[in-house]
Amino acid sequence: GIVYREGTLGSRPSVPTDAAELERRARRRMSRAAWAYVAGGAGEGATMRHNREAFDRWRIVPRMAHGIVERDLSTEVAGTPLRAPLLLAPVGAGALVRRDSDVHIAQGAAAAGVPYVLSNQGCSPMERTAAAMAGTPFWFQLYWSTDEPLVDSLVGRAEACGARAIVVTLDTTLLGWRPQDLNLGSLPFARGQGIAQYTSDPRFMQLARERAATPRTAPTRVTLGAIRTLLSMSREHPGGFWRNLRSPEPRAAVETFLDIYSNPGLDWSRLSTLRARTALPILVKGVLHPDDARRALEAGVDGIIVSNHGGRQVDNAIASLDALVSIRAALGPSPTLLLDSGIRTGADVFVALALGANACLLGRPHIYGLALAGADGVRQVVENVVAELDLTMALTGTASLSSLSPSLLTPAPH
Ligand code: FNR
Repeated sequence: GIVYREGTLGSRPSVPTDAAELERRARRRMSRAAWAYVAGGAGEGATMRHNREAFDRWRIVPRMAHGIVERDLSTEVAGTPLRAPLLLAPVGAGALVRRDSDVHIAQGAAAAGVPYVLSNQGCSPMERTAAAMAGTPFWFQLYWSTDEPLVDSLVGRAEACGARAIVVTLDTTLLGWRPQDLNLGSLPFARGQGIAQYTSDPRFMQLARERAATPRTAPTRVTLGAIRTLLSMSREHPGGFWRNLRSPEPRAAVETFLDIYSNPGLDWSRLSTLRARTALPILVKGVLHPDDARRALEAGVDGIIVSNHGGRQVDNAIASLDALVSIRAALGPSPTLLLDSGIRTGADVFVALALGANACLLGRPHIYGLALAGADGVRQVVENVVAELDLTMALTGTASLSSLSPSLLTPAPH
């Protein structure tokens, strides 16, 4: 409603209403390194293409004269009430795009009334981002550290600042092959970007201090790279540049982070210990195989996010939407399944829900909104997707999300 009213009044939105133009305009506002990191994918980019092609293989079949005037887009996922079946996906190192990225994204999400999943590699301490959500529910995304006390510390902080669920991302035990970043030599984490959740954590800083106290074989040299790291860290965490310059901690913090942020040895039995360590609902993110989905449920999770990380991890991987179809077929109707990777429009959300998703997460598009217009850009991107979903429901005679089913779709002709 709002989108059309504003549109017909002739005011031009500061954020384009279609995904392609949104991406083009955002690119012009972003540095080369930021664009490479955000828009880039693994390898040749085949997974990113597959994500989109999977949507292209389905057609929506509109329905007429159904008499439905009001739609209800609300639902509940893992105990969190949603006004629309959409959440903002966790994104690390957003400060490449805009300073205080997480706070702006949180404000935009709150203005649109949708949850944001705070990334473990965010650029603000989670307590600060949580405050910016101003009461709108949010979740916390965890990378399972090799240091178990750090896992407990991060989860405890998430509980204390009001997160409504913990999302464990399983698909990034190692960072994928990212040629765009590699070619520019610009991987953000190696430069200390996106580690604010860690440098604000007492357990992590204890580890970093222990490391800093360990005598080095080679003396610390003040290189240009080290100064850059110091600068970006002081932007992210309290203490500031001068304090950091005098202490050996920042370098040790970056090294500690690179060492322990993720545990390639994580397995289902270790994961299942989380159930006893938090009362919050647990979701796992990055599941693509029905057997993994089954094992996740056996490990006691409350929901599964079917995702290939936006095509950023394994090149030529199965499209997220195709994985959703086979996982829903294998698990039946009850388990909570969310989907991300390739969602660009309200019509995409409609298709994903018709194929069995309970809700979707939006990744890159909200970052493009952030690049163009900050918090308000994030809000507009979300409102546009929700508005198009609402219109699509109106034009297919679906009064509520529970009436979305595969019968509203047909496979594209070959
Ligand atoms: C991500 N993603 C991600 N996922 C996660 O669990 N933790 C993280 O810190 C990040 N960081 C991150 C940064 C950037 C720049 C991007 C683009 C993505 C993955 C993200 O949550 C989501 O799975 C994908 O972005 C969804 O795909 P689309 O919507 O971008 O196609």
